[in-house]
Amino acid sequence: MRIAVIGAGSVGASLGPALQRAGHQVVYGVRNGGKPAPGEKRSDREAAGWAEAVILAVNWSDVEAAIADCGDLKGKILIDVTNPLNFRPDGISLALGFSESGAERIATWAPGARVVKAFNAITAANMSDASAFAVRPAVFVASDDAGAKTAVLALAESLGFEPADAGPLSNARLLEPCAMLLIDQAYMRGRGVGAAFAIVERPV
Ligand SMILES: NC(=O)c1ccc[n+]([C@@H]2O[C@H](COP(=O)([O-])OP(=O)(O)OC[C@H]3O[C@@H](n4cnc5c(N)ncnc54)[C@H](OP(=O)(O)O)[C@@H]3O)[C@@H](O)[C@H]2O)c1
Repeated sequence: MRIAVIGAGSVGASLGPALQRAGHQVVYGVRNGGKPAPGEKRSDREAAGWAEAVILAVNWSDVEAAIADCGDLKGKILIDVTNPLNFRPDGISLALGFSESGAERIATWAPGARVVKAFNAITAANMSDASAFAVRPAVFVASDDAGAKTAVLALAESLGFEPADAGPLSNARLLEPCAMLLIDQAYMRGRGVGAAFAIVERPV
């Protein structure tokens, strides 16, 4: 798949090479020339225009502008890896979530895009290598577009993750707080960024 990764920060620099190793073509969308990236860099508009799928990997405060920089995203799979977080001196909190998720807001900013919430509750450190785990970490995938969801479930599996259908896009309201839990586990409870969510099951 031709994939544009918008943002070459922690997530972009980890997810992009993993996607390339899995056989996908990856180009980075950067602003103002950007910092070094582990692959070809283009403007957001050029990268998104070339791609079949666009991964949004910028901080919440930059999301609306990044979508505008990408230009027309109608018909493209738009993979929302972001978390709508407020960073304040007293800690991190969700910027929205009870009646609207970040993913649903993104769908209003990118009309006609096939928005899929995924990879938001995996640490950037773990995006690069799922094979190191005894149990595959889960990637929960939520979307209202069945075809786009199927494609992103397959993408997650191609990276070695356990793909998990998380229902409609509004279920991003469930997935985004999971990122808060993961951040708390990693940084406040001492587990570090190697921790990941996995699903274990037994017959009942
Ligand atoms: N870090 C994690 O473990 C993790 C895990 C899951 C989800 N997430 C979510 O993923 C998103 C990215 O997190 P991150 O840790 O990768 O952040 P980061 O390291 O701060 O990287 C964000 C990148 O976005 C770039 N950027 C901002 N606006 C842009 C634009 N218009 N076009 C292109 N690039 C732009 C910034 O580049 P310049 O400032 O240099 O221009 C920066 O390199 C966040 O929403 C976060 O909540 C993070």
